[in-house]
Amino acid sequence: MRKQIVAGNWKMNNDLSQTDALISDLKGKTRTSDAEVMIAPTFTNLYAASQALKGSDIEVVAQNMHFAENGAYTGEISAGMLKSIGVNTVILGHSERREYFNETDELLAKKVDAALAKGMRVIFCFGEELADRKASNEETVVGDQIKNALFHLEAAAFQNIVLAYEPVWAIGTGETASPEQAQDMHAFIRKTLADKYGNNIADQVSILYGGSVKPSNAEEIFSKPDVDGGLIGGASLNADDFFAIVNAF
Ligand code: 13P
Repeated sequence: MRKQIVAGNWKMNNDLSQTDALISDLKGKTRTSDAEVMIAPTFTNLYAASQALKGSDIEVVAQNMHFAENGAYTGEISAGMLKSIGVNTVILGHSERREYFNETDELLAKKVDAALAKGMRVIFCFGEELADRKASNEETVVGDQIKNALFHLEAAAFQNIVLAYEPVWAIGTGETASPEQAQDMHAFIRKTLADKYGNNIADQVSILYGGSVKPSNAEEIFSKPDVDGGLIGGASLNADDFFAIVNAF
């Protein structure tokens, strides 16, 4: 059985006291679903968050990392540093990293390798832009993003990979892919994996949807057979909304 996952990507939001407050709120919520729950605070608050959530069923994950183990990379954070504070999962390839920080498929392949080499789990993000969809190119774009960054891996590596399809036109815009659009793309992604690695691997990999998921649309999106959860931006900054999404399973 594939894991169902709901992960909150806090992006560059919440200082330390706001992080403490939101975590207190999250701890007070009642869970009615079995989905794995994760939150991704900013680097400066990861340690506090991982301490505050020690022993809870909410995992603290990072939003990014560098591929090198250490060295002269001013301002960067390594996989080993994350692991040393109890962070074992990292989001890589978010469209905001690709767009504003020029992260390419080639760079992301190195980051994926570095994370896996340290035994970390990777939530690997990708998705087409509006122009790609208008030109009916979305499958080519998404297929290439996956192949370029992940298809050098051996099959066993996919035990530690979660995929997150986030159409760029649906991120932070209030515009969500329809449940059918999400399902179609997720089925395509799974087929792409199956063609390379076989059905067993493809069936095991969780594929999350991200892009304006809200309490009002989560249940319908999560009801689709190839949608195994969500990567939530804006709505993850409010404990009630986030848990309404977690409990939408
Ligand atoms: P929103 O839920 O705010 O659209 O953000 C989605 C996202 O980018 C999660 O990584």
